[in-house]
Amino acid sequence: MADSAFLELNGERYEFPLVTGTENEVGIDIKALRALTGAVTIDPGYKNTGSCESAITYLDGEQGILRYRGYSIEDLAEKADFLEVAYLLIFGELPNEEELAKFHQDIKDESHVDEEMKKILDGFPKSAHPMGVLSSLTSALVAFNPTSVDVSSESAMYNSIVRIMAKFPVLVAWTLRKKSGSPLDYGDDSLGYVENIHKMMFKRPNQEYKKNPVVIDALDKLLILHADHEQNCSTSTVRIVGSSHAGLFASLSAGISALWGPLHGGANQAVLEMLEAIQEDGGDTKKYMAKAKDKEDPFRLMGFGHRVYKNFDPRARIIKKAADEVLGDLGIDDPILDIAKGLEQEALEDDYFVKRKLYPNVDFYSGIIYRALGIPTDMFTVMFALGRLPGWIAQWREMRLKGEPIGRPRQIYTGENYREFKDLQSR
Ligand code: ACO
Repeated sequence: MADSAFLELNGERYEFPLVTGTENEVGIDIKALRALTGAVTIDPGYKNTGSCESAITYLDGEQGILRYRGYSIEDLAEKADFLEVAYLLIFGELPNEEELAKFHQDIKDESHVDEEMKKILDGFPKSAHPMGVLSSLTSALVAFNPTSVDVSSESAMYNSIVRIMAKFPVLVAWTLRKKSGSPLDYGDDSLGYVENIHKMMFKRPNQEYKKNPVVIDALDKLLILHADHEQNCSTSTVRIVGSSHAGLFASLSAGISALWGPLHGGANQAVLEMLEAIQEDGGDTKKYMAKAKDKEDPFRLMGFGHRVYKNFDPRARIIKKAADEVLGDLGIDDPILDIAKGLEQEALEDDYFVKRKLYPNVDFYSGIIYRALGIPTDMFTVMFALGRLPGWIAQWREMRLKGEPIGRPRQIYTGENYREFKDLQSR
C-alpha cells in the first residue's frame, strides 16, 4: 500500500499522507488541503469523511463486525453486563472486580438528583415526548452542577462521568413516571445498575419491587447493543458540541436531540408504530413492501437500511434471537413479531432491498422486546439514549483528552454575488 495520495488541480500535483488504522482502514489526511490548494472537499452527510481517529469502537459494515475496544459485540452481549461495558468503553479496559465495585459505588454515591429538578419536570405536559423532556432535563442538570470539567484532571473528569452515569437513569425513570402519573422514585443501593433502573421506572407505590431475571437480562443486553456505534449522528453531535468546550452534560443533551430523529434512534419507535399500523391494516406485508419501493411514496421500511452496514447489522441478529427468547420466557405471543419476521423474509428475497443492501438494523426487533418488557412505545428512544450514554461519554472524553480542535466545517457558497443595498422604497 502506498503511503501517500496525489491530487491534481489546475495543473499542480499535491501529495497527501495516508493514515492507516489498526484494522488497516485507510484515510487520506487532507488537513493541509485548503492551505495548499485553496479548495475544500464537499461531502454532504459525511459519507466519505473521517472526522477523527478513535480507539473506542471498530465496525466493518461490509463484514458485519462490531467491536468495543477490540471485544466483539457477540461476546460482550453474552458475557458482560452493561456496567462493565460502560467502563470498558469509557476507560479502555474491562474492569477487574475491585474497579467495577468502585465504579458502581461511586455511581451510587452520586445518584441523588436535586429536588428542584422536579419543578422543571412538573412544567412539562404529560403529553410531551419523553425525548424532549430528557434532553431538557439533561441540559438543566448543568445548572445544578455548574462547575465545568477540568479536562486536564483525570479525577475531575471521572467525577463528572460517574455523576452523569448516576443521575441520567434517574431522569429517564422520572420521565416515564411523570408520563404515567406515578410518584417519582429513587433507586435502591442494594440493586445492580440495570436492575435499579428497572425498579426506578416500574416500581408501583403500593407494591414491593420484584426482580425478574429474564427482564433484567434482556434489558442489559439491549443496553449493551446500543452502547456505542462510532461516529453516528448523535455521537458526532456530542463530539462537535463538546469541541467548543461546552461541558459534558450540555454536549449529551445535544446528542439526545440528535438521537430523537426517526432516521436515527427514533427509528425504534417508528418501527413499532409501523408494525402496529400494518397489523391494524390487516397484516398485508406485501402492500407495505410495495409502498417502501415506490419512489412516489415517502414511506420507508423503518428499521431497514443502515449508513454503514451493507451486509447485515450484527446487533440485529443478536436482538432477533433475544426477541424470540424473551417473548418465549415471558410467555408472550405477539403477532407483531410474526409481521416483523414476514417483512424481513420478504425484504431479504426482494431485488429492491437486495440491490441496495438494505438489511434489518438494530431497531427492527428492539421495539418488540421493549414492548414485551412493558416499556411504552414513546419511551423506546429514551431506552436507546440510556444505552448510548457510555458511548457518548467515551467519545466526548477521548475528544477532549486529545485536545481536538473545534469542529467547524467549511462550505461552498452558492448564493448571490455582491449586490448594491436597495432601500425600502425601491424594493
Ligand atoms: N426503505 C426503503 N428504501 C430505503 C430504505 C428503507 N428503509 N432505506 C434506504 N432506502 C433506499 C433509498 O430510497 C435509496 O434508494 P435509491 O438509491 O433508489 O435512491 C437507497 O436505499 C439508499 O438509501 P439512502 O437514504 O441514500 O441511504 P443512507 O445511508 O443515506 O440512509 C438510513 C441510511 C437513514 C438508515 C436509511 O436506510 C433509512 O432511512 N432507514 C429507515 C430508518 C431507520 O431504520 N433508521 C435507523 C438507522 S439505525 C440507527 O440509527 C440506530
